[in-house]
Amino acid sequence: MSSPDELLRIEGLRKAFPGVVALDDVDFDLRRGEVHALLGENGAGKSTLIKVLSGAHRPDRGHVLVDGAEVVIKDAQDAARLGIATIYQEFNLVPDVTVAENIFLGRQPRRFGLVDYRRMEAEAAALLERVGVNVSPRAKVRGLGIAQLQMVEIAKALSLDARVLIMDEPTAVLTSGEIERLFAIAGRLREEGVGIVFITHHLEEIAALADRVTVLRDGRSVAHVGADTPQDELVRLMVGRSIDEQYPRERPEAGEPLLRVRGLTRSGQFQDIDLEVRAGEVVGLAGLVGAGRTEVARAVFGADPYDSGEVQVLGRPLPGGDVRAALNAGLGLVPEDRKGQGLVLDASVEENLGLVTLGPTSRAGFVDRSGQRASARRIAAELGVRMSGIDQHVRTLSGGNQQKVVIGKWLLADSRVLILDEPTRGVDAGAKVEIYRLVNELTASGHAVLMISSDLPEVLGMSDRILVMAQGRITGELDAEDATQDAVMSLALAATPASNTGTNGAEGHDGH
Ligand SMILES: Nc1ncnc2c1ncn2[C@@H]1O[C@H](COP(=O)(O)OP(=O)(O)OP(=O)(O)O)[C@@H](O)[C@H]1O
Ligand SMILES: [Mg+2]
Repeated sequence: MSSPDELLRIEGLRKAFPGVVALDDVDFDLRRGEVHALLGENGAGKSTLIKVLSGAHRPDRGHVLVDGAEVVIKDAQDAARLGIATIYQEFNLVPDVTVAENIFLGRQPRRFGLVDYRRMEAEAAALLERVGVNVSPRAKVRGLGIAQLQMVEIAKALSLDARVLIMDEPTAVLTSGEIERLFAIAGRLREEGVGIVFITHHLEEIAALADRVTVLRDGRSVAHVGADTPQDELVRLMVGRSIDEQYPRERPEAGEPLLRVRGLTRSGQFQDIDLEVRAGEVVGLAGLVGAGRTEVARAVFGADPYDSGEVQVLGRPLPGGDVRAALNAGLGLVPEDRKGQGLVLDASVEENLGLVTLGPTSRAGFVDRSGQRASARRIAAELGVRMSGIDQHVRTLSGGNQQKVVIGKWLLADSRVLILDEPTRGVDAGAKVEIYRLVNELTASGHAVLMISSDLPEVLGMSDRILVMAQGRITGELDAEDATQDAVMSLALAATPASNTGTNGAEGHDGH
């Protein structure tokens, strides 16, 4: 029987896609004023579950109850009517219209049959203030940073009087300050009685924000536990075994410098960047979002131009702004924005994995098809890509599995120097370790890795040396073995004036 606090209940939910059962006999319940975390490996079924609640997927079997009464959620309108608002892993805003128009999309207040812009903007301003974000209702969505986009999504949810707010990996793209602000908003909504469903791969966020946790494994709800459950126990519930070594870095002897950057400067983005990565080394590039790390990576790789300075790969100067030359010289970049830059969504896993090897480096007209399939299978298995087969379209893979495909593509390309931009963002605890092991294998065989990461334990655990950037400059270098999170943070804040604490500054999402 349902308790008086119960908002929503799911019983025996099943959803299959061709070749995969995404949800199988899932139970879940949400109470008023609670934050309920959904935890599970990449592909466990988390996003599918919330898509059922938001009307994006129809379940094959099972029941959804709201306030104790069974409901059928056919589409987004049904969900909105029931007070269920969802913030997806990929945002749903329209880039070329204003913030206010996005918030009230399809429901603009009207006066004499015309959109009442004044009222719409005033109401939008009030909602934006409620979530505590400093954005003009008249700003175009295109120019906003990730954190601002998310706050606009939350404002939109509030405008729908949501009683259930669902957030799919909301913190994956936020800085720690932005995460704190998001948690403050969530705390306030919780006090107002809103039930929040929250997906994350960061276990420490569960203790910080959630009340209860439902763990999904292989599409089944395997545990309903309190948020005070120890992290290693949560991992065990998620992956069905314990992970003994989270950062398995083996530090080989560093060899010759493979990547050398001298005085690299691009006006308004980064200044005087000097760095060197040797064979066998992992150099971590730490800093706050907006410090310019992605911009440096893109310039080094030739994806963006720079004003002055020099890049050398294996001792030979690389022309600026020329990705083809970078590829031929043995440089690879795993971008942070995997959807926009790393993948062809409507191609198969195999085709995506072959993109680099079949591109500039393949011999004219000759494609070793069976060899390609075999290596695609091997790398997908090593990374544990969860898929129905290598012919599955990448669009229908779960978020974390898409990330594994981007990484796999570059591992297959066999670049001597690999730049990884937030390689484990959105990747589950078990798969992270697999990626770290592959990084170890790469460096053990003489490759060099430059790793941009905002995950401090990862930077400390997997780098050999750490360079820290703030406001477009390198503010210091640390030896990873005796560096601390505090030491990295103080360098990351080094040149940052105290005023710069707004929600601005998501880097590199400008869709090049
Ligand atoms: N539209 C679809 N067509 C086919 N298969 C799908 C589709 N959507 C999801 N799947 C499959 O369903 C399974 C569950 O995916 P889902 O996106 O729910 O995982 P997730 O738990 O959110 O993972 P992640 O942490 O990586 O985001 C995966 O195997 C995925 O490939
Ligand atoms: Mg997902």
